[in-house]
Amino acid sequence: MSVRVPTTAAEVARARLLELAPGGFEELEREGEVELVVYAHPPLGALIADAFRGVTWAPVEPGWEDRWRDFHTSVRAGGLWIGPPWETPPPGEPAVVVDPGRAFGTGAHPTTRACVELLAGLERGSVLDAGCGSGVVAVAAARLGFAPIRAVDVDAVAVETAARTAAANGVELDIAVADVLVHELPQADVVVANIELRVVERLLARTPAPVAVTSGYLAHEVPSAPGWASLARLELEGWAADVLGSA
Ligand SMILES: C[S@@+](CC[C@H](N)C(=O)[O-])C[C@H]1O[C@@H](n2cnc3c(N)ncnc32)[C@H](O)[C@@H]1O
Repeated sequence: MSVRVPTTAAEVARARLLELAPGGFEELEREGEVELVVYAHPPLGALIADAFRGVTWAPVEPGWEDRWRDFHTSVRAGGLWIGPPWETPPPGEPAVVVDPGRAFGTGAHPTTRACVELLAGLERGSVLDAGCGSGVVAVAAARLGFAPIRAVDVDAVAVETAARTAAANGVELDIAVADVLVHELPQADVVVANIELRVVERLLARTPAPVAVTSGYLAHEVPSAPGWASLARLELEGWAADVLGSA
């Protein structure tokens, strides 16, 4: 449903719509107007139509819940095939099958691919995947020969998804819900953290590993963490990932 209001009335319209649709709505700047767009079930739609004049609406096409699947296609990183369960991995190629659901990490994002690529060049040992999302990097690490592998995420949905990803790939992971900035972290030879820059920097300040693979930031950004220096860097599509070791 779409409501257009003059820019001068936008504040009031936003407040009214937020009461009706606390789950949120999209806001688009139009010439002299603001368009507020909300996905609504019929009962909510009726309330919105009553509250605003000139509401327009269009039915959502069937299958919208699964539309993201069209964009989830296989990629290659670190010598691995990473792809969805509805594609068949090429015979003989080490594969990571991932169905991320609502968690981050199909494998296709440049930051994920860069982490796997950098991990592939490191000496094998134990890994802590800090902020595991779908578990794609943790499972990729297992495929690359790292062990044992621990994975944590602050989001319980991600942890459930990572457990499913591990099971689907026949990989053993030790997975838990944890905030990497708050909870005690297990020792590991390598910590991988594809989170945003400030979280990466704060994690490095307390990380229990001699080597870190970090990403989640742009090519012009470099993690600033006392005691750590970038030993290798990979830039993909404007994003960056680093291998960090002691300075
Ligand atoms: C960009 S996703 C990376 C997912 C996956 N590792 C990958 O590379 O595709 C970042 C993940 O970090 C998690 N995260 C963010 N802050 C966190 C924190 N403080 N502690 C633990 N996990 C965190 C998010 O919930 C999210 O699943």
